[in-house]
Formats: sequence, structure tokens, C-alpha cells
Amino acid sequence: MCGIIGYAGLEEAAPILLDGLERLEYRGYDSAGVAIFTKGGSLLRVRAAGRLTNLHARVLEQLKAGADLHGEVGIGHTRWATHGEPTEENAHPHRSANGKYMVVHNGIIENHAALRKRLQEDGVVFASQTDTEVIAQLLESNDTGDALETMRRTLPQLEGSYAAAILYNQTPDTIYCVRRQSPLLIAMNETGVFLASDSAALLPHSRQIYRLEDGETAMLKAAQTRFYDGAGTEIAKTAIEIARHVTTADRGGYQHFMRKEIDEQPLAVHRTIAPLLHQGTVDLGEAEAVLRNFEDINRVLFLGCGSAYHVGMAGRVVVEEMTGIPAGAELASEFRGFAASIDPRTLVIIVSQSGETADTLMALRLANERGARTLSIVNVEGSSIASESGSVIYTKAGLEVAVATTKAYSTQLAVVYAVAARLAALRGCEQYRLRPFIHALHTLPERLDETLQSTQASAIAWAEEIHEREHAYFIGRNLDYVGAMEGALKLKEISYLHAEAYAAGELKHGTISLIEQGTPVVAVCLRRETAAKTASNVEEVFARGARVFCIAAKPEAKAQTIVIHPTHPLLVTSLAVIPAQLLAYHTAFLRKCDIDKPRSLAKSVTVE
Ligand code: F6R
Repeated sequence: MCGIIGYAGLEEAAPILLDGLERLEYRGYDSAGVAIFTKGGSLLRVRAAGRLTNLHARVLEQLKAGADLHGEVGIGHTRWATHGEPTEENAHPHRSANGKYMVVHNGIIENHAALRKRLQEDGVVFASQTDTEVIAQLLESNDTGDALETMRRTLPQLEGSYAAAILYNQTPDTIYCVRRQSPLLIAMNETGVFLASDSAALLPHSRQIYRLEDGETAMLKAAQTRFYDGAGTEIAKTAIEIARHVTTADRGGYQHFMRKEIDEQPLAVHRTIAPLLHQGTVDLGEAEAVLRNFEDINRVLFLGCGSAYHVGMAGRVVVEEMTGIPAGAELASEFRGFAASIDPRTLVIIVSQSGETADTLMALRLANERGARTLSIVNVEGSSIASESGSVIYTKAGLEVAVATTKAYSTQLAVVYAVAARLAALRGCEQYRLRPFIHALHTLPERLDETLQSTQASAIAWAEEIHEREHAYFIGRNLDYVGAMEGALKLKEISYLHAEAYAAGELKHGTISLIEQGTPVVAVCLRRETAAKTASNVEEVFARGARVFCIAAKPEAKAQTIVIHPTHPLLVTSLAVIPAQLLAYHTAFLRKCDIDKPRSLAKSVTVE
């Protein structure tokens, strides 16, 4: 959510900043801007509302008009609007009234209204509606002539979360930065120093990454970077090596990243589970540490948001059925209300693609505070959630660019199955139950591949039928309900067609009144233990005129059916999602939506 980039070095900053913003654009794309200390000695800012292409065009215009954009120090930002509309005035960088400070910021300043009022009473005139401008104005009002000292005086006045990069007009060779709750990373190479909110923008320059921790600040110059703790004492930091090459942001001939990422799922799942499977057993590698004194664990709790929460919902069923240990799943954003019963005997499993989702990070911190064992399933190495968890298992989805998750979701599910199998083995699960489960996990990539091949044509035909409708319902029971929830989320987030998921048995308790002639209902009936009951619910909606589409193991009489070859009954969620993703993609395509960057969304949600 929002992207920050910065560079201080020997090369031209503008192309580096624009390239970095391109790599970050999937995290927020309402507006963008850069600020550069020019060789001519001024601090120049260019901003544009809308997509990054608009900023590129604006930069070109400025160059044609003779603007001096040459300089070796600068910062840039791509925005996901929180305070104020996505206009040029609200785009970052934000400048203080007398132009002393220029700030780009991720996060939310929660006391911005009170600070703005106080500054306005002192005569400060604001140029935007953003909370970020408050930081710039406050810095200027506290200016001591020494930017680090000014930051030390100013930061305690800010409440909320922030990662900020700051330029000060008295030190044109320097970028100052600070982190509190929102991620900020730094990397160096022989040409200079780079900072970014996300490793995707740093990896082209270096794989040695420094993470700022909460309260830390840094001063970045071409030849020298200094880190300080919250008290202002200089500290030494150690870089972490990002071992894995991140897949490049290349559409590879596909029209959209999402369609490419759907097709990458079998390979991504294979890459993720292969290191965990060993001749019919599961070994979680370094994450085994979280299972020490396993017999003490009396509860497993999954936490995540959005699709990652759906993974947790599936995990809850699979873990409980395989191990008999009571398991639950909670929305990380709601966790504050549910944390009271967490204790050192709880295994908390955090699911997050980005590893930076603020709600999930806060839930992890709460679980850590309560002494729980924490294991995270994360796709981004060195991310905050990975760093703060007791143990980590990385999904190997590679860079996921489309905002709607597909391959990360599938790899998260696969890791959850592996964890469930390991817990089951430790619990003494009988081999006749464990072996087929691990075998099914082993063959999951092939099953995903078959499902992709066999469901594409029907998904397109279904999309043709539903794309002009206003509402759709997804139903299923148990693990199929998880499939329904993920299917509905995919459809609504990228096609803007209103879609809701219901536990199939719940329809008759109220929602069935919404079913009328032609209402599309997608029923997921893959799990054989519940399929017959869901089939009865299909009859009920059919009797009320619904147009029913089924994802099932055998053809349904009252519905158009996508037949999927059954896998292990506990792995059905992985297969159900494939036609659901394809349906969402093709519906969004027919509705001419911006599939990879749906309106109002961002890839990494770093505000609570
Ligand atoms: C939906 C989607 C989101 C994310 C959620 C959590 O397609 O992508 O619902 O799953 O925002 O994000 P992470 O996994 O990065 O914590």
C-alpha cells in the first residue's frame, strides 16, 4: 500500500526513481510523484494524478519545457489514497510551506487533524488534504537547522504508523528516513544507496538489504549511510541476504499478470512443497523449531486477512481433521477481540503473502506478547511478519504482481497442508490416513495443472453468461464453503460484480429471499462428505429460478457443471479455486475492468 523509493548516489536519480516506482506501482496507483535535488541547486518536484504513465508524461513535458531534472539525490512515491482524493495536490512528495522539507510517507498519522489545526492556528497554510503534509509542515515548524535533530523533536508528536523519506533543502546530498510500523528497507551498491518500502524495488540493485526497525532513523548519502536508534544513538546494522531471485515483473506474452499467475500455480506449488516433502514424510526444515515440545500445543489458530484468512479457514478444517487438535481461524483485523485466550500452548499460524499487512502484523505482535508459538507462512523474504515470527516457512510463489492473489494463495494452502501433515505425524496419526494425504500433496501440482487445462473453456462460457448480471452468490459447505468465499472475493474484487459467499446450509435462513429468476449461483460441491447436502441446496435455489453453476466431482442435473477429478477430500479447496479464478478473470475481462489493478485496492495493505 503506497510505495516509497529513494536514491542518493553517483547516477542520475530520475530514471532510478521512475524504474523503482514501476516496480512498486502494484502496491498503490492513485497518483505518483518524485522530488530531486537538481544540479542547479533547487529541489524540484513533479507529480501526477492517476497511473505512473501520467507521471512519466509529466516528466517528459517538464524536460521539453527545459526543466532541470538532473540530479543524483531524490525520493519518489506511488500512492494509495487514505486522506484526500487521488489528485495531483494530494500526491506525494509533500512540501512544507517554505519549501524546507519534502516528504513521502506510507502509513497513517492518526492525530493529523489535531496537528493540522494547531499548525493552521500558527498561520501555516496547507496545500493538500493529506496526513502526510502534516509531517512536512511540522518538521518546518520545528526546524533547528539540523534535520536529524528536527526529526527527533518532531517524531514523538506523531501518532500512528509511518515509513517516511525526507529531503531537507539545506543538505542536498542527503535523504533522511524513519520507520514506525510501516516497512522501510535500504540497500547499497557501488553507485550509491537506495531505499524502498518493498524489496522488489531494491533487488535489481543489491540482494543485501537493511531493514529499519520501529523507531529507527537513517541518514543516507552516496558515500555513507548511518543508522540511529529511537534515542538518536548511532547503531550498526547487519544486512540480510535475500537469497531467492524474485520473478521479474514481466507479463511473458500474457495480456494480464493475473492470467499469467493463474497458470504459474502448478509450478509455484511444486517449488513450495518440494523442499518440505521427503520420501513420504514432511520436514518443515528450520520451522521445525516451533514444534519443539509439541505435546504442549493444545490449540492451533490461523490468522490472516482476505484470501489469506480463507487459507486459514481451510487450515482450521484440515489441521483439526488430521490431528484432532482444536483449530480455529480468525481475521487478523479482528484479532484484538479474540486474543485473550492465547497462551504459550497455542500455535499461531500467520498467513500473509506480502508479510507486511498491518492488521496481520499487529495480530502477530499480540500473539507474541501473549507468549504464543508463532509460525508464519510468507512469500516475501525479510518482510516484517517473517522477521517477527518465531518461525517462517516461505512460499515460493515468486513475485505476484496482480493485486488479486492467485498463486500466492495456492502456495499458502499447500504449506498449510504440509504443516497439518507434520502435526498429524507428531500426533501419531495412523499411516493409512497420513500416507494418502501426503501422496495427494505430492501430486497436487499435477492436479492443479489438469484442472487448469480442463476448466478454462467452461469458465469462459460461464463468464459470458454472468458478466452482465449485477449480483452472484457462491455456496458450499465446510471446505467447499472456503472455495465459495475465495471464488466470490475474486469475482467481486476484479470484476466489480457484486458476489457473496454463503455456507450453503445458511441460505434458507435468510438469503434465499434474494434468489430470483436468473440469479447466478455458483455451488462448490467437491467434498464428498458434504456434496449431497449442498446438492439439496442447489435444488432449493434452482426451484426459485437461479441459474446454477456447479464445481463438482460429477455432473449436477440442475446446473451447468465443471467436473473436477477429486483429489484427497481435504485438498479440494486447492482445486475449486482454479475455475473460480478463471471465472473471475474472464468476467472482469468482458466487463473491461482493469484486471491487474482493480480500483481502490492495493497489493500490500500497510495501514490498519
Ligand atoms: C485478495 C487479496 C487480499 C489479500 C489480503 C492479505 O485477492 O489479495 O485479500 O489476501 O490483503 O494480504 P497478505 O497476504 O499480503 O497479508
